[in-house]
Amino acid sequence: MPQTDLQMLPPHVEPHGKPLSILQSVRAARRNVLEIIPAIAYQQPIVSGRMGASRWHMVQDPASLRRIYLDNAANYPKSEVMLRMLRPAIGNSLFTAEGAEWRWQRRAVAPVFAQRNVTALAPVMTATAERASQRLHAAGPHAELVAEMLTATFDVICEVALSGREHFDAKVYGAAIIRYFETAGKASLLDFLRVPSWFPRPGELLGYGAVHTMHDMVAKAIDARRAQATGQADDLLDFMLKATDPETGRTMSAQDVLHNMQFFIVAGHETTALALSWALQLLALYPKVQEEAYAEARSVLDDQPASLGHLEDMPLGRRILEESMRLYPPVGMLAREVLANDQLGGRDIRANDVIFLPLYALHRHATLWDNPNTFNPDRFLPEQVKARDRYSYLPFGAGPRVCVGANFAMMQAQIILGTLLSRFRFAPGPRPLPHPTMLMTVRPDTGINLRVTPRQM
Ligand code: HEM
Repeated sequence: MPQTDLQMLPPHVEPHGKPLSILQSVRAARRNVLEIIPAIAYQQPIVSGRMGASRWHMVQDPASLRRIYLDNAANYPKSEVMLRMLRPAIGNSLFTAEGAEWRWQRRAVAPVFAQRNVTALAPVMTATAERASQRLHAAGPHAELVAEMLTATFDVICEVALSGREHFDAKVYGAAIIRYFETAGKASLLDFLRVPSWFPRPGELLGYGAVHTMHDMVAKAIDARRAQATGQADDLLDFMLKATDPETGRTMSAQDVLHNMQFFIVAGHETTALALSWALQLLALYPKVQEEAYAEARSVLDDQPASLGHLEDMPLGRRILEESMRLYPPVGMLAREVLANDQLGGRDIRANDVIFLPLYALHRHATLWDNPNTFNPDRFLPEQVKARDRYSYLPFGAGPRVCVGANFAMMQAQIILGTLLSRFRFAPGPRPLPHPTMLMTVRPDTGINLRVTPRQM
């Protein structure tokens, strides 16, 4: 039985019943990408349509997703529309590169995210959780949790990437990220209509200032580290500076390093902060679940902050995060292109078609989930996970392009969530509930404003 101690459903997007015109789709995409998902995408395995000269398919069928992500992944490279939005900020780095360009960069950074190295970062995460908890104590009865969580996760990624954050003003950098998402990071009509990429897009010019601010800060941090050049820090920057492509012998240019660092710093904290913020919002709406999670965290941690050794004994904390990312996948939609004709779920897919992968709709699909819009962490009990197709839940993607930071993100989120739940009670604040809104990531449009009360120790 889902544990709904709530009469209404947690915030969700009300899908439109009729297909949108091109102009409506474009407007919706600029406001909230989740609004382009039609109601039937929550019911049907694949929905197809046309936009200008392009045929598109929205895929929510686990078997077809397995083919796209894994079995025939080479036929479904990342879509030009997405790449176009990202390239000004991250060039041809790991997230955006394809083929041999991608392969060697992935090999170069993989060791940083190997279990052993991620485990070594746990003390940094614990220290960050402790600091976040102190900030919440000082903040008073009401807090905006997205900003709090962004500060916490930013600390950790700076440590992984650059062994410290002396060169970063988190507020300046954070504001530049948002400015970028709201300008160059917005899907443009011209992209959907496949107007060539040399033609300037309206938001793009505005976005350049934000990119410049971010690049400048990252470049200064890289320069400072190059000057020390110990090569002993074993952080992401060291691995990139040392990396050599085994096939061609090439090393990363200064530009490659800058673009990769830029991506890691943004992707490495924004997504995890959102997962945590939505989890706290849900727990505020479902106090019974929150009390269970509090009891779990309190009995394991007493008044210590969470560390790696505690996580195994706090499985409910993990399930809460998994269920929160089902309802609010930080990356709510991906897009791919089609190189050669193929078949998905018995449907003909042609070269040059566009494939949308709406993780948000997959995670709320009527044929895959009971009461899909309710919050129920029991869905992630081991027997329930085993009974499900793995491709019905994909917050980190899958196949060769699966998120390289997934373990890192989960560990960090569990440490922060466990620590905070053992020390505070979270309840709805005075403002109306936020609405999930996706530009690049699925954010709460008005932030997560909660009443935060310290627990009696
Ligand atoms: C809750 C947190 C996170 C979520 C939900 C998330 C989600 C994703 C998704 C869905 C993809 C696949 C994109 C695609 O197939 O097109 C991806 C890729 C990637 N993620 Fe994450 N991510 C998270 C945290 C992180 C962190 C902490 C890092 C690094 C520190 C990271 C680095 C990357 C990289 C480098 C890729 C590209 C991998 C490749 O193409 O080889 N992510 N992420």
